[in-house]
Amino acid sequence: MSETPAGGRTPLDRTPQWAALGKHRAELGEQHLRELFAADPERGSRYTLQVGDLLVDYSKHLVTDRTLDLLRELAEATGVAGLREAMFRGEKINITEDRAVLHTALRAPRGAVVEVDGENVVPAVHAVLDRMAAFADRVRGGAWTGHTGKRIRTIVNIGIGGSDLGPAMAYEVLRPYTDRDLTVRFVSNVDGADLHEALHGLDAAETLFIVASKTFTTIETVTNAVSAKGWLLSQLGAGEDAVAKHFVALSTNARGVADFGIDVANMFEFWDWVGGRYSFDSAIGLSLMIAIGPENFRAMLDGFHLVDEHFRTAPAEENVPLLLGLLGVWYGAFFDAQSHAVLPYSHYLSKFTAYLQQLDMESNGKSVDREGRPVTYQTGPVVWGTPGTNGQHAYYQLLHQGTKVIPADFIGFARPVAELAPRLAEQHDLLMANFFAQTQALAFGKTAEEVAAEGVPAELVPHKTFRGNHPTTTILAGELTPSVLGQLVALYEHKVFVQGAIWNIDSFDQWGVELGKVLARRIEPVLLTGEGAEALDGSTAALVAAYRTLRDR
Ligand code: F6P
Repeated sequence: MSETPAGGRTPLDRTPQWAALGKHRAELGEQHLRELFAADPERGSRYTLQVGDLLVDYSKHLVTDRTLDLLRELAEATGVAGLREAMFRGEKINITEDRAVLHTALRAPRGAVVEVDGENVVPAVHAVLDRMAAFADRVRGGAWTGHTGKRIRTIVNIGIGGSDLGPAMAYEVLRPYTDRDLTVRFVSNVDGADLHEALHGLDAAETLFIVASKTFTTIETVTNAVSAKGWLLSQLGAGEDAVAKHFVALSTNARGVADFGIDVANMFEFWDWVGGRYSFDSAIGLSLMIAIGPENFRAMLDGFHLVDEHFRTAPAEENVPLLLGLLGVWYGAFFDAQSHAVLPYSHYLSKFTAYLQQLDMESNGKSVDREGRPVTYQTGPVVWGTPGTNGQHAYYQLLHQGTKVIPADFIGFARPVAELAPRLAEQHDLLMANFFAQTQALAFGKTAEEVAAEGVPAELVPHKTFRGNHPTTTILAGELTPSVLGQLVALYEHKVFVQGAIWNIDSFDQWGVELGKVLARRIEPVLLTGEGAEALDGSTAALVAAYRTLRDR
């Protein structure tokens, strides 16, 4: 890794590898995927990799062998492998918070050794997993009952950000694996409507609240948890002693949990080396484990681990997270791509992209490097997308004929989940025909000549022409199982890691969320009393005044 004379890494865009990529980009010019495929009939198979159950086709990208070589040289020059080793070794690579980054230890097999500050953390990980499994089995089997002796039918997870998005997403993904006699609801927003709707129609005697918060100081979660406790006690007509049977906590903060009034015996812990957005395979996944059962949860962890091992050991040419990370860097830097679409062709993945938004944007939405210097290149993209085929009838128009470069991941499965058979299985081929058609259309388009040859009037030809050359990755797996979900999430986690390493940013802090929290705390009393408005800026003061007038009318 090259260093500047003053110390610190050479800014990315001043490295020779960056310059070589820029030159290469200019040479590529407007070369079309049609030409690249025509020149190499093997391109489709040559540019396909396999990791676990995931087949990853990257042939429809605006790259050549030379591009890939140069990108890998960039990865080497920027020390991606070294940082990766440091992460897996438990070094404190989250420099601004002085923390290790060890979500990979959460899925390390029993018996593995991963040390933080000289202590092997794997036994503690498995001890918590075992406690979670025992608790999940008691809830699922009816041995854990509520205050009145009734068995639990509904679990309400109260958490936000990483303490919500992961389990909420995975619960949707793995619905066919859930115990259908149990329902999990998720409450995150401090808007009381969220809790109100989640509690609607529930019998408090059959409801278990899981308060999920790494810090146990997050205002949304604590506020909702207090309200939920009030609801429970008034519904049951019971005293505080009812709380123990209806509230458990997931946290790193035992004192905060105790202060809230939850017995720490009912707390499932995790550790400060687990980032919130990397935490749903820790205790934060308890609601999911209750829903799908410990065995399926462990299968999901094995899926994560499989991709961890691949990322750690596969050579650069075969390393899928490395490749996907590099492609993102390529488009951001040399095609001015501002966003990245993730388009799953599975209804069960309906919350997957929302989950990835936190994973990617909270990790890599940074504009200073690890030395605190402003970056002079693009960092993390806007991540967006919804399941196919719905998007096709909404925003795909822009993907096909708009002016933006938007690399997209298409995720699909060869078989529908078993539960759909036999009644709805045949719809699957139709879904997947769309899946393949879209990447084909995006890559190859339709030329003006082809349109004209169909007899289209000349004035309509430009409107019906598809430029093509839109880059996509296709990720195809046999079936959406717990293991495959783990594999997919780990793939994206490590892709995000690779990009952060190349951009030389700290992907594991999130200082950008702090200012809004501080200002909200300042504004709240002004809303209540009207006093202190003069300390606000002119716009906000006027808005607050208008709000108070409208509210109190
Ligand atoms: O405000 C951002 C954030 O800190 C996320 O990083 C985190 O996932 C979320 O809030 C929730 O935090 P906690 O689990 O501590 O309540």
